[in-house]
Amino acid sequence: MGITGGIAAYKAVAVVRGFVLLGHEVQVVATEHALRFVGKPTLEAISRNIVHTDLYESVAEVRHVALGQNADLIVIAPATANSLAKLAAGLADDLLGNTVLASRAPVVVAPAMHTEMWDNPATVANMATISSRGVSVVGPASGQLTGSDSGLGRMAEPEDIVAFALRVHAASSAVSASSADLAGRKILITAGGTREPLDPVRFLGNRSSGKQGVALAVAAKSRGATVTLIAAHLEVPAPDGIAVINVGSAAEMLAAVESAQPHSDVLIMAAAVADFRPASVSESKIKKDSTGPSLTLELVANPDILVAAAQSARPGQVVIGFAAETADTEEALLTLGRAKMMRKGCDYLVLNRVGWSEGFATDGNTISVLDRAGHRVLDAEGSKLSVAHEILNLLS
Ligand code: C5P
Repeated sequence: MGITGGIAAYKAVAVVRGFVLLGHEVQVVATEHALRFVGKPTLEAISRNIVHTDLYESVAEVRHVALGQNADLIVIAPATANSLAKLAAGLADDLLGNTVLASRAPVVVAPAMHTEMWDNPATVANMATISSRGVSVVGPASGQLTGSDSGLGRMAEPEDIVAFALRVHAASSAVSASSADLAGRKILITAGGTREPLDPVRFLGNRSSGKQGVALAVAAKSRGATVTLIAAHLEVPAPDGIAVINVGSAAEMLAAVESAQPHSDVLIMAAAVADFRPASVSESKIKKDSTGPSLTLELVANPDILVAAAQSARPGQVVIGFAAETADTEEALLTLGRAKMMRKGCDYLVLNRVGWSEGFATDGNTISVLDRAGHRVLDAEGSKLSVAHEILNLLS
């Protein structure tokens, strides 16, 4: 358990206690700044172990490496903006940085900071980097902050952090039990959101960040698959070690899928593809003074790439589609999903509910998966990475 220097460190005591009461062995690595907020004796009494802080203590035991190597799970709560930046850069200038770098265990961070710091582009970029490397994120929540202000940035509640971290650990143990179960499989994944040009500077697009598709690529690669990612305007970096084909519009994505599909065993269509595109694309920028007070756009339907891929799939090739819907209830979502399954003709359809604050551009996801017959074969909730592993379990 890493504790960094933010006021929410006082609540880290409850996180440590939550793990201990469930029977887990907790080694606390607190930064020097963390110990300005919470006392070492408190953490030692609650964790029932000595608290580690100094990189230069117990050097003979090579502690800076041993702690990380021995951990089954690393939870950093609170994770300050500074500690997330250090994590993104891979810095090892203190004991916690060394411990994280020296470990193969899954890492969970519980960010805590003021809203301005959370929204700062530097923090946003650092979060994207660490998420793309498979770090799981719990929170932050919205609510009262340290001062009189309130907003997004409050650390998730200790019991939620404990429950989330244990789910991440359970998912990763299931994966490591079968770590190369997708070796030899060629998996083609589409991710992101297509953009349909209107003129040289404008497009019609959607709010897909590409995080779920990238998480699928990270998970598939970690399980030994050969991964090709067809990427449309990703907001997160594509992982290293996979082939990436960048596309812009639905037409470009169709061409990329058509040429890559014959060489793959599995196709996962996680991208949000525009259903329509402008009937004509203006050669030059559309000028306000040439359109008058209103502008009517004529749209024409795009080809449905998933339907085409499902129709041309060779025997044994698995095609998985996604359906993001704004249904009000779970039942309504399943009804929409079953109708869509009939239209698409794929092997599995991953359903998730989206809205202004759900599904798109978030770090977590809640999904249900239908098979060809419309039977619900999987329900999963958690980080996009753990959801990705659950989806891939359908292939093993
Ligand atoms: O019909 P809808 O857009 O809800 O279907 C979503 C699924 O279909 C996703 O897997 C998406 O990648 C795929 N799709 C497609 N071509 C389109 C529209 C959606 O492949 N033109």
